Amino acid sequence: MKFAIHGASGFTGRLAVAEARRRGFTPVLVGRSEERLRSIAADGEAVRVAGLDEPGALAAAFEDCAVVVNCAGPFTALGEPVIRAAIAAGAHYLDTTGEQHYIRSVLDGLGEDAARAGVSVVPAMADDGGPGDMIAHLVAERVGPEVAEVVVADLRGRGVASRGTARSMAAVFEQGPLAYTDGRWHPAEETSGSIAVPGEEGAVPVAVFALPGVVTIPRHVAARRVRSVIRTEAAAMFSALTPDVVDSVPEIPDEEGRRASRWLMLAEASGEDGKRVRGWVAGPDPYGLTAVIAVEGARRLAVDGAAAGALTPAQAFDPASFLDHLTDHGVTWQVTPA
Ligand SMILES: NC(=O)c1ccc[n+]([C@@H]2O[C@H](COP(=O)([O-])OP(=O)(O)OC[C@H]3O[C@@H](n4cnc5c(N)ncnc54)[C@H](OP(=O)(O)O)[C@@H]3O)[C@@H](O)[C@H]2O)c1
Repeated sequence: MKFAIHGASGFTGRLAVAEARRRGFTPVLVGRSEERLRSIAADGEAVRVAGLDEPGALAAAFEDCAVVVNCAGPFTALGEPVIRAAIAAGAHYLDTTGEQHYIRSVLDGLGEDAARAGVSVVPAMADDGGPGDMIAHLVAERVGPEVAEVVVADLRGRGVASRGTARSMAAVFEQGPLAYTDGRWHPAEETSGSIAVPGEEGAVPVAVFALPGVVTIPRHVAARRVRSVIRTEAAAMFSALTPDVVDSVPEIPDEEGRRASRWLMLAEASGEDGKRVRGWVAGPDPYGLTAVIAVEGARRLAVDGAAAGALTPAQAFDPASFLDHLTDHGVTWQVTPA
């Protein structure tokens, strides 16, 4: 399978390259800096240099690739030219974004072009947007064809983050969170509450936050309302991401801390009749698992294919089968009555 990793020289890009090699694939390394790409290329790996302002060169870099995995963020600023180049090259596309407004704009705005080219475009294949969308689908399915509300929550505790993530999250915070009600997205109201976290005593305080699930879940779950929350302490941390703070975050997080960090995505669905179902997916090493998710997604797009158009993770891939694949990497998941 020939596939390109765009942004291969970044922190997440390098983890995706390592995961591709571990799986026995030979990735094509694409980005803006020949020097940085050559410094990570292994024998036999093609290096292709193209800037975002060179659409022809970027499309040519992807031309013989079945899939483009894009790891260059913030995607709000950098994502669209890469998607357009992948579509022009006739390659499927997926990325590691967690940026809610960007994901919405891709799903709303690029589906027709992707469908016309016969390719699938799947944003949000990272440790939050991918598992969050998939577990929400599985939970909602148990409630019934019609769902009153889905709440998706990112309940990871303290852990490490890269400067790239901090930069992207600062942009997300600035755009403000969306919620979904009765067929439309709108600015979310500031609400607070608490949620029982699997494996922890008692409930933890949560606050509204712009997670991918709000813009992905309503596309495959007939829910009247969808909203998203994170731990209140994490929301406070993101609200403090000034440019100076972003610059002080290490470009590459400490490896031991990274591997020891854990992530947890939870979804709760309730029916009009009061029936409630909850499910969660949890695992180690958020960045390592993002690489696993992106590379396995690329493999599935290349080998199994998916519908042509812009798709959410749960639309592109069978959710239970995909989450089962992650269990080989220390991920656990379950769906239970709430
Ligand atoms: N949602 C999640 O859970 C999750 C998990 C992992 C990563 N992510 C996202 O993945 C993205 C990357 O994070 P990271 O930590 O890997 O960041 P990073 O180390 O800063 O890497 C950024 C990459 O983007 C490239 N880039 C930056 N500006 C560019 C431009 N103007 N034109 C072309 N390429 C450009 C960089 O190329 P150079 O090497 O040439 O500078 C580099 O390859 C972030 O948006 C992050 O939020 C999300």
